[in-house]
Amino acid sequence: MRQIDRTAPLLSVENVSKRFGGTQASSLLSLDLYPGEVLALAGDNGAGKSTLIKMISGVHQPDSGEIRYKGETISHRSPHQVRDLGIETIYQDLALADNLDVGINIFLGRERMKRVFGIPVLDRKYMREESVNALKHLGIELNDLAMPVRYLSGGQRQAIAISRAVYWKAKVLIMDEPTAALGVPEQREVKDLIKRLQGEGVAIIFISHNLNDIFEVSDRIFVLERGRKAGERLIGDTTEDEVVAMMMGRVLDD
Ligand SMILES: Nc1ncnc2c1ncn2[C@@H]1O[C@H](COP(=O)(O)OP(=O)(O)O)[C@@H](O)[C@H]1O
Ligand SMILES: [Mg+2]
Repeated sequence: MRQIDRTAPLLSVENVSKRFGGTQASSLLSLDLYPGEVLALAGDNGAGKSTLIKMISGVHQPDSGEIRYKGETISHRSPHQVRDLGIETIYQDLALADNLDVGINIFLGRERMKRVFGIPVLDRKYMREESVNALKHLGIELNDLAMPVRYLSGGQRQAIAISRAVYWKAKVLIMDEPTAALGVPEQREVKDLIKRLQGEGVAIIFISHNLNDIFEVSDRIFVLERGRKAGERLIGDTTEDEVVAMMMGRVLDD
């Protein structure tokens, strides 16, 4: 097993709660994430996985508790501000612009402009060249970067979303079910990408229903059950059976 330096967490969630109407989606949740660590978030449908990552990414504000990044509170920042700090989130729908090419997608919302006769226009050439480098850096091969991304496979689209996060120097990458919609070879590619990012010191939170994926790529697993923490284990200290029991609320933990 890889050694992770657990002296100072990069990200800390402390006693965070969130209620939607009558639903307690998060109940006093605390977790730490360390540099270069892959933390899996598991739990049945409705357990509160997405709510937790949306509080980290600034989409939802916690009702109480605090979220800290590099020791500073980020509990009340907008998604844009959180992203600028180096915490990138890739949601299930990926938020790619289907009709635009790979280059523009890597720069989406942060487009590079140039001036032609004093008029600002998109610098497509720069963005495409930078994208080629970004993809190459992660060992991703795409033949035609000028193609609208809607023609790409699910795995290629996932790779672009990950490249975008890496290009913008994410220190924390959060992925909601990154392999759910993919075929087996593409799942493999995404898992290989996760391992490569981890090797570069990026900390990753990765939501999955797939216990094989979790046991393959994670260092630690955090299990949610109806908004509560059902348990947390180093991956080497648990089994699939135990994780399933935790997901069903059958293991009482701290
Ligand atoms: N925006 C929202 N408004 C109302 N209820 C929500 C909202 N988001 C999530 N919930 C509820 O909170 C609970 C946890 O949801 P969620 O975090 O999406 O779970 P998971 O991602 O583990 O499937 C569910 O009961 C869900 O219906
Ligand atoms: Mg979800």
